[in-house]
Amino acid sequence: MNLNDCYNFNDFRKLAKKKLPSPIFHYIDGGSDDETTLRRNTESFNNCDLVPNVLTDVSKVDLSTTVLGQKIDFPLFLAATAMHRLYHHEGERATARAAEKMGTMFGISTMATTSIEEIGKLTKGPKLFQLYIHKDRGLTDNLIERCKQSGFNSMCLTVDTVVAGNRERDHRTGFSTPPRLTLGSLLSFALHPGWTLNNLLHKKFELANIVHMTDKGSKIDKSVMDYINEQFDPSMSWKDAEYCVKKWGGPFALKGVMSVEDAKRAIDIGCSAVMISNHGGRQLDGSRAPFDQLADIVDAVGDKIEVILDGGVKRGTHVLKALALGAKACSFGKGYLFALGAGGQRGVESILQKMHDEIKRDMILMGCRSLKELNRSKIIYRK
Ligand code: LAC
Repeated sequence: MNLNDCYNFNDFRKLAKKKLPSPIFHYIDGGSDDETTLRRNTESFNNCDLVPNVLTDVSKVDLSTTVLGQKIDFPLFLAATAMHRLYHHEGERATARAAEKMGTMFGISTMATTSIEEIGKLTKGPKLFQLYIHKDRGLTDNLIERCKQSGFNSMCLTVDTVVAGNRERDHRTGFSTPPRLTLGSLLSFALHPGWTLNNLLHKKFELANIVHMTDKGSKIDKSVMDYINEQFDPSMSWKDAEYCVKKWGGPFALKGVMSVEDAKRAIDIGCSAVMISNHGGRQLDGSRAPFDQLADIVDAVGDKIEVILDGGVKRGTHVLKALALGAKACSFGKGYLFALGAGGQRGVESILQKMHDEIKRDMILMGCRSLKELNRSKIIYRK
C-alpha cells in the first residue's frame, strides 16, 4: 500500500498505521476513556441527510470562503495540532508547505516542533497559532509577541485541556515525547525502520517554541498527559482568555467551546470565532459531538461571530452538512496527521486534494454553486 492507494480518511489512516511505530499511531488515533465521544464525533453527521436540488447549472462552483480574516480556497482547514515531528521528520514544515500549495489555512501549536519564526519565514499562506496557557504566564506574552513579529494572521486559545484526558492507549503503549525506546515499544520501532531511521538522521525532536522557557518537558521524555498536567494552568479563566484576545488584537478564536452559554461569552470578550470542538474526543469522554451542538450555537451567535466546526470530519459531505447548519468552515486534525505520517508533505497535499475534490463534487451533486446556497433548507434531521 502507498499514497496512490489512499482515496479517503480510512486509507490514510491505514497507511499511517503501517508506517508509524504503534505508540505514535495510537497517540493520533486514540481518544479518552471508552472513546465514545471519538466515535460519536463522526457518527453524528448521520443524524441528518442532505437534500439536493437539480437542474441548477453547476458548471461553475465557488468553494472559497473567508475564515478568521483569511481567504481560503475551500471550507476546510488544518486545525493546529501538536508535535508534527513525531509523524514525519519534516514536521510542521511539511504541513505548512502542503497547506499553502492547496490554498487553505493551517496552524501550529504551542507544542509544535518547529518554531514560530521558522514557519513565519517558510510560508506566506494563512497561519493560525494555537495557544495553551502554561503556569509560566510569561510564556503567553512571549508567544503572542513572536506570532505578531512572524506574520501569523490569527490565534486560537484551546480551552478544553486544563487537565489531560484519560488516554488509555498511551498508557498501554508507553507513548512519550520524544519517543522513548522501552522494552514494550522496541519491537514496534524495529518493525518501522523507515520511520526510525529518519527520526535518528534528521533534526532532533524538541518543542521549539517553549524550549527556552520551560526547563521541564521540552526535551525530557515524558508522556503528553504528564506534560499537560504539570505545565498547563488549570486556573485559566475568562479573564485570562480576554487578556489574550486584547493582547493579540487580531482575529481570535476560542477552541473547545461546546455550550451556547460559552459561545455567547466568547462574543463578550471580543472573540471573532468559536471552534466547536471536544479536542477530537481526546478530553471529556461522554461529551456531546460538535455537530450535534452546531445548530443551537449558530442560532444563538451565528450572526455575530464565526462558528467553526472541528471534530469527526472525514468526508466532503460532513463539511457540507456543517455548512448547511451555518458553520463558516470546518477544521480537522487526525486526517491530515495520518496523511503526514503516511507520506509527509505529499501525503498532506494528497488528503487535502481528496477532500477538496469531494467537497466540489458534493456541491455539484447538491446543485449548489456557492457555499452561501448551503442552508437549512438543504438538510433534514431524521425522525
Ligand atoms: C493532545 C494535545 C497535546 O491532544 O493537543 O494530545
